[in-house]
Amino acid sequence: MNFTKELIIENTNGNLENHLPKLGIEKVESEIYTGLKAIPKYISPKYFYDERGSELFEEITELDEYYPTKTEKGILVTIASKLNLDYSNLSLIELGSGDASKIRLLINQIPKEKLSSIKYYPIDISQSAIEKSSKILASEFSSISIRGIVADFIHQKSWVPKSNNRLFCFFGSTIGNMTISETKEFLKLLGSEMGKGDSLLLGMDMVKDLNVLVKAYNDEKNITAQFNKNILNVVNKLVGLNFNANEFEHLAFYNKDKERIEMHLKAKKDMIIKTKNLSDKIFIRKGETIHTENSHKFTKESIEKFGFWAKLKVEKVLTDKNNWFSLIHFRK
Ligand code: SAH
Ligand code: AVI
Repeated sequence: MNFTKELIIENTNGNLENHLPKLGIEKVESEIYTGLKAIPKYISPKYFYDERGSELFEEITELDEYYPTKTEKGILVTIASKLNLDYSNLSLIELGSGDASKIRLLINQIPKEKLSSIKYYPIDISQSAIEKSSKILASEFSSISIRGIVADFIHQKSWVPKSNNRLFCFFGSTIGNMTISETKEFLKLLGSEMGKGDSLLLGMDMVKDLNVLVKAYNDEKNITAQFNKNILNVVNKLVGLNFNANEFEHLAFYNKDKERIEMHLKAKKDMIIKTKNLSDKIFIRKGETIHTENSHKFTKESIEKFGFWAKLKVEKVLTDKNNWFSLIHFRK
């Protein structure tokens, strides 16, 4: 997560743009301090994804308990035959692209002769994830052009590539990690950015059996716990705090009223966290929690609501046999 370096980074796989410095480290500091001084305390989930966080998330996607990735990929492997897409000069814009393993499934279904006209734009806050995944993708599909964009897609808009025939892809139900007001604002902006012929493919994790949900965030190997605790290492590095992640316990439960999994970190003891400004400290009591993530689960009504907020038409709803996960194709 690089908030201070230059804007354009030339790398071996083409260009990579970093928009994070435009946001500025001051904004990051104020966002993190505000959350840690609030009652109850919170940290935005976007801070999970430094290099280690991105790796831990990839491990999560392979866990038996974590059904969303497997289920969504199951829908994606045959998606091209179900969508009416024009692959000539198509710009594939993927938000929160991570390891790019999902877009690969779609690219695999594009006729070979069209590949040289495809442009792929992975957008992610994790520069390491974009660098790694672009390298792998470029070696598999040498004819498509790839331009990585490091940006915060909630607080920035300057990243949106301009062209005709754009397919915005937002997989993984990462939209569920936003607050409701962020979701509304985000969809409103994205919808207004889209022109005639553009479309959006959105992955949404659906409300389901409580045990399935709770297990997915409390895996036996404790990878999710490591992922949750790693957020403290990330904020330590970003703004110079001295959290000891081992002094916290991982908590993940389903909030039925809000239809979401919540992740928290619970302090095992009283602690005083030093900040860069030595006269400013963060006090945490034993048992106090830091709210690190919401993972909203959705219903048919949410799909309609999202279309309404974005002013987009629901063209297709694709789901698995259990209705655990939905991929929605919205059109302008
Ligand atoms: N799409 C992938 C990865 C999901 S993990 C999949 O479905 O498996 C969520 C991804 O979104 C991570 O790679 C993370 O770095 C990115 N991300 C989270 N919040 C973000 C934000 N505000 N701006 C940009 N990227 C963000
Ligand atoms: C990226 N996001 C949709 C994941 C989720 O399920 O909410 C992040 C995650 N958190 C814990 N496990 C996975």
